Amino acid sequence: MTNNLHILILAAGQGTRMKSARPKVMHELAGLPMVGHVIKTAESLKPHCITVVVSPKQEEIATFAKPHKTAVQKKQLGTADAVKAGLAEIKAKTGKLLVLYGDGPLYTKQTLSKFLNTFEKSDAGLSFLGMHAKDPTGYGRMVTEGKELTKIVEEKDASTLVKKIDLCWTGVMCADIKKVRDWLPKIKNNNAAKEYYLTSLPEIADKTIYSVCSEEESLGANTRNELAVLEAKIQERLRSQAMTNGATLIDPTSVTFSHDTKIGQDVVIEPNVFFGAGVVIDDNVHIKGFSHIEQAHVKSGAVVGPYARLRPGTVLEQDSKIGNFVEVKNTTIGKGSKVNHLSYIGDTKVGSDSNIGAGTITCNYDGFDKHKSTIGDGVFVGSNSTLISPITLSDGSYIAAGSVITNDVSKDSLAFGRSRQAEKKGWAKTYRQSKKK
Ligand code: UD1
Ligand code: CA
Repeated sequence: MTNNLHILILAAGQGTRMKSARPKVMHELAGLPMVGHVIKTAESLKPHCITVVVSPKQEEIATFAKPHKTAVQKKQLGTADAVKAGLAEIKAKTGKLLVLYGDGPLYTKQTLSKFLNTFEKSDAGLSFLGMHAKDPTGYGRMVTEGKELTKIVEEKDASTLVKKIDLCWTGVMCADIKKVRDWLPKIKNNNAAKEYYLTSLPEIADKTIYSVCSEEESLGANTRNELAVLEAKIQERLRSQAMTNGATLIDPTSVTFSHDTKIGQDVVIEPNVFFGAGVVIDDNVHIKGFSHIEQAHVKSGAVVGPYARLRPGTVLEQDSKIGNFVEVKNTTIGKGSKVNHLSYIGDTKVGSDSNIGAGTITCNYDGFDKHKSTIGDGVFVGSNSTLISPITLSDGSYIAAGSVITNDVSKDSLAFGRSRQAEKKGWAKTYRQSKKK
């Protein structure tokens, strides 16, 4: 958008209401920390820079925010003090400052762009984004006069009359950088909380305007209950996006996506499917119920589940099939190959058109190291086979059911790895008669 836009994300608060050892903004929504959602939206505005304000103990946030800069607010003296700490890291003398709160992850690019455009077109040096709250309790109330904002009163300082105002501040603010640098030192902490409030700015600025967005976009999380409400909203958006892009979700509310799940066209997703981070599903894939998929790439025409588990590093090539109660990890299943029932295939490369029978297990771990195996093209592995890795089953080979395979099998060979069957004629009849006596 504009390269004179500087964005500050405030995240230095303690977040005590989360009852957690982790900083509040590091709690995840659709697998991405709350502050990650705010950073993603901030990036979509293409600003000159993004700076995250953290407290000295929040190394975790600073590491996560990279390559974006962080500013350290030494003591949590309030939101105005946090902006001051952030501005100290921003060199620019002119331009626009957009302030976002790290615990407000639902804003869309459209809403923020519109807010910034309105500010740009006005002659005011300061603008606040408000919303009409169904229950305004806890929010800063916006006192307005026509198109101008005269002041914001925090809950703790509000009179009964002011508490009736339903226009509340969302936590999104923008300002002229040069002017706000002059105004911030004038803020005093003579309020009920003895904090330096960013909401004191309208009383100092010459002219403040405001915009209004939907309450839904402004929702934040201070508690785990609120976190669950935000998760539901984000899931709703992700499901809707998948359907808009051409996927069928038979029971949308039972499908859980990750913030980065990529779903192609004409994909069918049955009820109760979970997507962890890093999943790519190409066109025409069918994912049956109760499957759990993370860091996997499922290519066109593949069928997964029901009850399948695809773990990190799984690649299912075109038209392959993973059936019920099959776990696959760090493995490529070649074009048209099938692992249909009750198996574990790990650290293996399977070629095309191979059939891995029910109950096949790759023993890839010896208690110390993970070993890799190769299964070629057109291989048939009989049911209940145990493949001791590292091992190679060459193209066209055949493994007898119930085998324990410890040596490589050459091309087009049949391998047995089990004791031969013995039979004692009439033994059972004699045994029964002896028991009757
Ligand atoms: C704040 C607003 C309130 C608004 C509401 C919207 C102020 C004084 N009040 O209240 O008007 O309606 O958000 O959600 O701004 N933070 C710091 N350093 C600090 C204090 C806070 O970085 O010293 C950060 C927090 O990490 C958080 C954000 O600022 O991301 C807001 O702080 P929080 O304590 O949640 O403010 P609210 O009480 O929600
Ligand atoms: Ca808050």
